[in-house]
Amino acid sequence: MAKAFVTYFSVYGTARKLAEEIAKQTQADIMEIEPVVPYDSNRDNYDALARYAKKEHDEDMRPAIKNKIPVEDYDIIFIGYPMWWYTFPMIIYTLFDEHDFSGKTIIPFNTHMGSRDGGTYATIKKLAPKAKVLEGLPIEMSDAESGASGAVKKWLEKLAVMAYDISKL
Ligand SMILES: Cc1cc2nc3c(=O)[nH]c(=O)nc-3n(C[C@H](O)[C@H](O)[C@H](O)COP(=O)(O)O)c2cc1C
Repeated sequence: MAKAFVTYFSVYGTARKLAEEIAKQTQADIMEIEPVVPYDSNRDNYDALARYAKKEHDEDMRPAIKNKIPVEDYDIIFIGYPMWWYTFPMIIYTLFDEHDFSGKTIIPFNTHMGSRDGGTYATIKKLAPKAKVLEGLPIEMSDAESGASGAVKKWLEKLAVMAYDISKL
């Protein structure tokens, strides 16, 4: 049976909550994408983070990843992130630069405050043209705080990737 893997980037912890819920429901392994240079997770400093993230985006930067994300060891990979400036954080580009997703199944998910997936699922298809990209799950930040277990369950059932059913992929 194929073992699934959940990897995610999160600064304020909501994408992490969602990732943990997905890993729990699918019995997948899970690993956070850790930046070499940490982002400020103090929500009081949101404006500074917003400015910094905008600079990373405008300058097409590739923030370095500190840990080794074992993409190569899995066939089914959930990838999660928050929406930042209408797209995903630039560190997600780093992940795609560093790994070959050919032949793998990617299942994206994200947290947001109104932009939903902002076209990022289509971007993933472009970045990993030889991967199968399944329907993603965008969850509003306040709903993700609790893990959004009901929405996750419904989505996974639709994808038929619940642990007992993962062989269908
Ligand atoms: C730098 C920055 C930019 C953001 N840009 C957007 C955006 O364009 N659209 C949106 O819906 N939410 C945006 N948000 C809100 C985040 O998507 C939301 O706070 C997210 O749930 C945070 O995820 P995390 O708790 O895992 O870090 C932004 C947040 C930050 C910090």
